[in-house]
Amino acid sequence: MIKGFIFDLDGVITDTAELHYEAWKKLSDGMGWHFDRELNEKLRGISRMDSIKVIMDHNHVILTDDAVVELATKKNDLYVDSLESMTPEDYLPGARELLTHLRQEGFLVALGSASKNAIKVLQQLNAMHYFDVIGDGNSVAKSKPAPDIFLYASEKLKLQPSNCVVFEDAEKGIDAAIAGGFHSVGIGPKERVGHAELRFNTMKEATYFEVRSFFSDFF
Ligand code: BG6
Ligand code: MG
Repeated sequence: MIKGFIFDLDGVITDTAELHYEAWKKLSDGMGWHFDRELNEKLRGISRMDSIKVIMDHNHVILTDDAVVELATKKNDLYVDSLESMTPEDYLPGARELLTHLRQEGFLVALGSASKNAIKVLQQLNAMHYFDVIGDGNSVAKSKPAPDIFLYASEKLKLQPSNCVVFEDAEKGIDAAIAGGFHSVGIGPKERVGHAELRFNTMKEATYFEVRSFFSDFF
């Protein structure tokens, strides 16, 4: 039986990829590093520290651990400043409607995000009230593709993974859901999330009706 839903944040509830891109781009430009949208795509769903390592590897840069932390902090300051402009108008189309519908139907709902800024983002969107549990980048040590963040969320909801559906836009996020034994819904192209049980191109198509129809054996 499906009793709960676990949502990734960035790329599922709101599109922060552009804000992350701008912050990494500014940092990279300042360092004389190459950074473009293609590389930014590789950062989808992975933690801040994993992200800076991907960018450094790409640029064949080696720095001390302290220097890496300092640069990641600098990027984060830029990103957090940019979140000030986010408003409740910035849900991805369909996301608010789905969250509202799930609550109306009495399902438990959790967040399962790699971001340490998840609460700030939810506050900017005025979305805190949709969630029974918030799992974010501060909740677990191992980030996606490890299933830990989703296991943290389901445990807090007091549900088994098989009783939960995970919504994810990242390849590594779907890997994490599968590794944890969760049902999975991918948001995005086949090349990225085609390994999810069910896939939609955008959240707009991911209506309660569609999700319920697909998983009808489990309701
Ligand atoms: C994920 C994003 O949700 O959070 C990644 O998809 C990001 O791009 C990660 O790197 C960590 O975010 P933050 O806010 O902790 O730097
Ligand atoms: Mg995401």
